[in-house]
Amino acid sequence: MEQKRETWGGTIGFVLAAAGSAIGLGNIWKFPYITGMNGGGAFVIVYLICIFLLGTPLMLSEIAIGRKTARNPYGAFKTISPAGSKFSYVLGALLLLQAVFMIYSGVDNVIDNGTNSGMIGFGVISAIAGGLIIWKGVAMVGLFSILTGLAILSYYSVVGGWILEYVYLSFSQNIQFETVADAKEAFGSFISQPWKVAILHLIFMVLCAAMLWGGIRNGVERWSKILMPALLLLLIAVIIRGVTLPGAIEGVKFFLYPDFSKLSTGSILEALGHSFYSLSLGMGIMITYGSYMKKQENILKTSVYIIILDTVAALMAGLAIFPAVFAMNYEPAAGPSLIFQVLPVAFNHFPGGFGWFWAGLFFLMLTIAAFTSGASLLEMGVTFLMDQLKWGRKKAIAVLFVVISALGVLSAISIAGWENIPWLKKAFDFCFSPDYVKGSFFDVLDYITSNWCLPLAGMMTAIFTGWIWTARRAARELREGDTNRLMDTNILLLLSGFRKEPFYRQMLYSGLTLTTLWAILTRFFAPVIIFFVFLHSLGINLGF
Ligand code: PFF
Repeated sequence: MEQKRETWGGTIGFVLAAAGSAIGLGNIWKFPYITGMNGGGAFVIVYLICIFLLGTPLMLSEIAIGRKTARNPYGAFKTISPAGSKFSYVLGALLLLQAVFMIYSGVDNVIDNGTNSGMIGFGVISAIAGGLIIWKGVAMVGLFSILTGLAILSYYSVVGGWILEYVYLSFSQNIQFETVADAKEAFGSFISQPWKVAILHLIFMVLCAAMLWGGIRNGVERWSKILMPALLLLLIAVIIRGVTLPGAIEGVKFFLYPDFSKLSTGSILEALGHSFYSLSLGMGIMITYGSYMKKQENILKTSVYIIILDTVAALMAGLAIFPAVFAMNYEPAAGPSLIFQVLPVAFNHFPGGFGWFWAGLFFLMLTIAAFTSGASLLEMGVTFLMDQLKWGRKKAIAVLFVVISALGVLSAISIAGWENIPWLKKAFDFCFSPDYVKGSFFDVLDYITSNWCLPLAGMMTAIFTGWIWTARRAARELREGDTNRLMDTNILLLLSGFRKEPFYRQMLYSGLTLTTLWAILTRFFAPVIIFFVFLHSLGINLGF
């Protein structure tokens, strides 16, 4: 007999679990430095607009798809649109057409110049995707999201392992670097020890698996209710220490002072892409978490809570990092070096000592953030196997653990040097151009998933909700549990702060409700805008 599907125990549990997925390395590591580089407060304003116009409607759509179908992303798409729909033929045919062009141009390039432009590999991927969509229907988009998520987990957990090492180094007082050069050297020699990194990655994966072991209510929800408040407290503690240092205000200024001259079209597209990544959208995570939601929960309200928590965490992360860096007179660097090389040195020079302790708290907080996000990615795969193959939870966790860990070990080894796994390097060079395969396997996975797969899957999810499931039916799901009829709130009334003037009261009946706005954003705005983000992240400049 089929077991009844679990549900979240309550609203708070669901919100904290989803916020656990959303708040991750993207918030604490990436957001602060891209903000710093793109005009501080000016970028924050653009980012907030993106969250409102793109993040929120997509979050609503994903949760609604999940709750309506009570299935993993693959099963959910399949339930709503079974194989053989008109749309799947059109989408599949487009992908096949694209494949023909790509392979043709790739082969042409090899014949003419003798070099591989990378098009053959991408063409083959397109052909496989197109064929599968024609054969099995739009559900393949769901499968694509799941595979993307699992690929992300395989390298996300490698970074998780690095962070675990830094927690240990901090609390054992082995992180007292004098200069950034020292810290850089220590970091470089650490990540080039493949087996050490691989083992740390495995420990991180064990933690993720442990969180899911007890199920939704007794695993994910229970852990999230403890870990998320802990993360917040740690963040507050680090902020207080940082902003009370003399000279800290320079860091706050760097992070928040709006410098519109540094804002380019590129920054706007970057903000869009990041709003997406930060909210764990486009990968079926929210479909998965939404599939365990009860009918009486209010999707709009819970989404707004999740989004507020995610945004506040990102802003707080900037306040935890920049004041400390500036007060100690360091340059705010970008990328991994900010967290692993500059920050530990800044902490080490705190007046009054105990820098190692603050570094420890910071890395502990980062561990929690990365860990709850990693677990959500694993949960998506677990839910998929449980739904589709009728596996038990523990078997699903065990099998995925082995597969993802193996991929992660390859990433870990490749960072130390591609030459350690020559067959993989050869395969990549053969399929894609060496231009794409500049970094390690780790970099390649990150590049392809973040810039290619995520926007593509997100765009298809928006089109799917707006046009195939149709906004009308999706809106019915959004209204379910919306006892206060928030979705019917008139936008002008909302903007006016609910002043009950006759004009606004009239507008209440005008039909310009939150539901209408959501439908417009989902059907038109999101697909078009994500398409531009997609081109931008592939490095295609449209000349504006
Ligand atoms: N939202 C996470 C972050 O900001 O770090 C990253 C992430 C987790 C992205 C899970 C996507 C995902 F499915």
